[in-house]
Amino acid sequence: MSPKPQQKSTPSAGGKNAPVAPKPTTPVVRALRGFRDQLPTEQQYWNHLRATADALATGYGFSWVDTPVLEETGLFSRAAGRQSDIVTKEMYTFTDVDGDTVALRPEFTPGVVRMYLEHGMGSIPQPVKMAYFGPLFRRERPQHGRHRQFYQFGVEVIGSAAPVVDAQLVALAYRFCEQAGLPPVSIQINSLGCAPCRAAFRTELVNYYKPKPRYLCGDCKKRLVKNPLRMLDCKHADCQPYIAGAPQILDWIDDACKKHFMAVVEYLDGMEIPYVLNPYLVRGLDYYTRTVFEIWPTADAVGATAALGGGGRYDDLVALLGGPVTAAAGFAIGLDRIVGMMKENAIVPPQSAAPRIFVAQIGEAAKIKALQLYERLRQEGFAVCENFSKDSLKSQLEFANRMHAHYAIIIGQKEVLDGTVLLRDMDAGVQEIIGMDKISGDLRRKLENGAAKAVAIADITPTPSNSPEKISSKPAKSRIEDSDKDPEHTDLDNETLLEGL
Ligand code: HAM
Repeated sequence: MSPKPQQKSTPSAGGKNAPVAPKPTTPVVRALRGFRDQLPTEQQYWNHLRATADALATGYGFSWVDTPVLEETGLFSRAAGRQSDIVTKEMYTFTDVDGDTVALRPEFTPGVVRMYLEHGMGSIPQPVKMAYFGPLFRRERPQHGRHRQFYQFGVEVIGSAAPVVDAQLVALAYRFCEQAGLPPVSIQINSLGCAPCRAAFRTELVNYYKPKPRYLCGDCKKRLVKNPLRMLDCKHADCQPYIAGAPQILDWIDDACKKHFMAVVEYLDGMEIPYVLNPYLVRGLDYYTRTVFEIWPTADAVGATAALGGGGRYDDLVALLGGPVTAAAGFAIGLDRIVGMMKENAIVPPQSAAPRIFVAQIGEAAKIKALQLYERLRQEGFAVCENFSKDSLKSQLEFANRMHAHYAIIIGQKEVLDGTVLLRDMDAGVQEIIGMDKISGDLRRKLENGAAKAVAIADITPTPSNSPEKISSKPAKSRIEDSDKDPEHTDLDNETLLEGL
């Protein structure tokens, strides 16, 4: 039998023998390491990134898709390459009760290609342009900007080998960071050539590194045998001098791949998208061919430690996953890193421009009227808010103030009998009596004429006028405090209404 929690009686401020609450015996369950909650206070960032992604994906002609979170492990291991970090160390893979080996998706690209093949998308007009936004899972060592569940916004263009596609993808990734409100980012770009170019380069690279293994880091010793290209991407200090002297893949790609790459950078120049050629950029997934790119914060941005996104062309992947030879390209952006950058650089996403109308009530009969009015206004498209679980008007108006409500509609006993409401302008601190049946029209007129700009609750799309701002953190001043000039109000007496505010 488990021991009963004991109630100790020890001296306390409440009196010598006052009972002390027993200590809880059940440990609090915590989120797993590397997994995080998205709190209400963070939703503004995620809503803003979703709205930005929505506007750009639509603007560039993409359709939204999603893929299952769980897929056959083989889908991801065939795509990323058996020697990739994702496959060797990071995949959440297990055998389910039917004996199938399945994995939580570590990236979207293979799932999107599987979807393209499984649903016969090869027979619709090409290219097929798909966008996604959702969670992924990699069992990496958690650290700043690296989580075990993280989110990506990404796009794939399947069915075109044209270099203009690569350039437009880079432009879209750049514009996403710009419109999210980030400080300027740097696009690094390279070409890995096609499979035969890479095979020749691989031999050259191995010949270059062969006499040096004892000076290399532990990982690069293994990479020399299993995945030599990744040696160019090593961040270990011991390996840097060798990377600087290593052969460069751009010298080894064939004429067709060179022509493709030249066209990509010409289009980028034409669109005035800034980029930096990085001959050592190889990416961590094996499926890339020709163009690869990564998006990095510039060194002067706060928290600039890791790539914000990456992508490239993968002309062999569709065939590798069982389809016909089909050229394709895409990229993905790590949204957790974007949110992190926004916070660290004090970039606040735009708030909804919709003015909030708070509905307050005093007494049971008024509560029913208030509930009805709340439903009505909400259905009519007003951005309404409430705190019906509170009975005190003071608490309700304090809440209205915290919600930055522009107007409070107050219903008391007398208003119920008279069929009226008290409409309080929270900014000006004045209030007036309005017939219950006139309230929608009056509110709409006031909102159209007054400082408030938008009425509809749904209107949260960022526009140039409500794009993200870098703010100074000025504390919000209580608008209730200086709002007790109330010349017109007679029905609810002022003392009751503003008591203690
Ligand atoms: P990736 O480079 O593996 O590419 O991931 C893209 C971005 O996801 C990274 O640049 C980073 O911002 C974010 N990311 C990756 N791992 C983590 C993590 N553990 N925690 C937080 N953020 C992370 C891909 O996933 C490719 N599928 C991109 C692509 C699409 N290539 C072609 N199409």
